[in-house]
Amino acid sequence: MQLIHSVSELRARLAGESSVAFVPTMGNLHAGHLDLVRIARQHGRCVVVSIFVNPLQFGVGEDFDQYPRTLEADCAQLGGLADVVFAPSVAEMYPVPQSMTVTPPPIASELCGAARPGHFSGVATVVLKLFNLVQPQVAVFGKKDYQQLHVIRQLVAQFNLPVEIIGGETVRAADGLALSSRNQYLSPAERSEAVFLSQTLAELRRRLQAGERDIVTLEQQAAAALTARGWQVDYVSVRAQATLAAPESGEKKLVALAAARLGSTRLLDNLEICL
Ligand code: PAF
Repeated sequence: MQLIHSVSELRARLAGESSVAFVPTMGNLHAGHLDLVRIARQHGRCVVVSIFVNPLQFGVGEDFDQYPRTLEADCAQLGGLADVVFAPSVAEMYPVPQSMTVTPPPIASELCGAARPGHFSGVATVVLKLFNLVQPQVAVFGKKDYQQLHVIRQLVAQFNLPVEIIGGETVRAADGLALSSRNQYLSPAERSEAVFLSQTLAELRRRLQAGERDIVTLEQQAAAALTARGWQVDYVSVRAQATLAAPESGEKKLVALAAARLGSTRLLDNLEICL
């Protein structure tokens, strides 16, 4: 595995590679990321992982400074799984101020975008830059960040980018908590409570699959259950999988998404639901 920090070295290394599968990350890798890298291996001869904590996607007061940077440990985990790790500095990725950015579609202002204005513009902009640098044939993103995956699919479709996007299933801890680099911010008591987020979504799915159809009430009751246990809820929302819009009646492929804070840690989760 080769660790590369500069754009010029990356371009030189990948020149002539015609089967590149790419996994963009912000590092602090866990089993969920490694799963995405294994999926990438099934789709490309050369597997590239980027590790870059992208300042453009963090808002004022968010955790850009505290975000765990663990490059050495990440590379140790990637040995034998990836061919190239691209870990640029901020100056390497943004040598001049990034005054041109991607404006994501309106759906990016809902759900997580409502609580994090500008976040998906920052994500789409850095992913476009990374795609231009790596020029992969395939890129793998986790379904854990379901709205992000949707925005990336739109980026690729609307800008005719020659890359196939694959969504990797969410990897969970034994108790059901979706793996996330931010889980390590949780105190032991918060970590025990955190599983209630996935349990809340599972209960919502159970009720939908049992035939309940008053989605607004289901969303409100799920949010109230979290609030009653001390969570600060950003949203619990049931959407159509394909568009992330509110589902039309009769829609069969749904996704229940939630974001809520436990103390100062914001957790995300979602469950796909087929009716
Ligand atoms: O999901 C992430 O880790 C980041 O949002 C991404 C896609 C690497 C862009 O910075």
